[in-house]
Amino acid sequence: MIVAVDGPAASGKGTIARALAARYMLPHLDTGLLYRAVGLSVLRAGGDPADAAQALAACDFSDAALHDPQLKSEAAGKTASMVSAHPEVRAALLQRQRDFAARRGGAVLDGRDIGTVIAPDADAKLFVTASAEVRAQRRFDELTRMGLAVHYDAVLGDIRSRDARDSGRSAAPLRMADDAVLLDTTALDVEAAIAAACRLVERAVHKAANDGDA
Ligand code: C5P
Repeated sequence: MIVAVDGPAASGKGTIARALAARYMLPHLDTGLLYRAVGLSVLRAGGDPADAAQALAACDFSDAALHDPQLKSEAAGKTASMVSAHPEVRAALLQRQRDFAARRGGAVLDGRDIGTVIAPDADAKLFVTASAEVRAQRRFDELTRMGLAVHYDAVLGDIRSRDARDSGRSAAPLRMADDAVLLDTTALDVEAAIAAACRLVERAVHKAANDGDA
């Protein structure tokens, strides 16, 4: 079973994808980490993330690079959203993600274009979203817990500009697949969001099985 989980920054898609992977005993790939690894590598080399050739040269990294704790930083997230706009970068990372999705037994992948580009034939596709204000509050709480001194307004501004960049780019923009189901987590806590996601996946899988019988 392949499960695609897409959505904007801080929507809860990562938490939901991890929970689904644990529940159905499937491997999980957070595809944002791939773009973060490229962005971080360009940053560390003192390069320009807006330069497609420099970003492309950073796409050849090992799986070990995906465990770097710095990938979770705001700087890496922002640079990731810049390098991910280059079609060359998306093309360079495509096969790695498709190979993961094609693992025997299936997989859960989360990102921005899993249901539309990486795994268009996924058995279940969720599009997880929440209001920008609630997403900013969650990110603010997370950063504050990590001991960082941040301002809510600045976090909200970052979320909005990341949304604009991810939705407005021409290469694989953030968009809900036609056959995805929407999960709005604005009014849900983590447990309720995970429970809703499990129900939606089970419904999608049953529907696919029944359609197959028909
Ligand atoms: O999900 P995360 O916040 O870690 O992603 C960081 C950035 O990587 C996103 O803002 C987006 O620009 C990019 N990304 C993407 N396609 C994906 C996953 C992430 O373009 N499948």
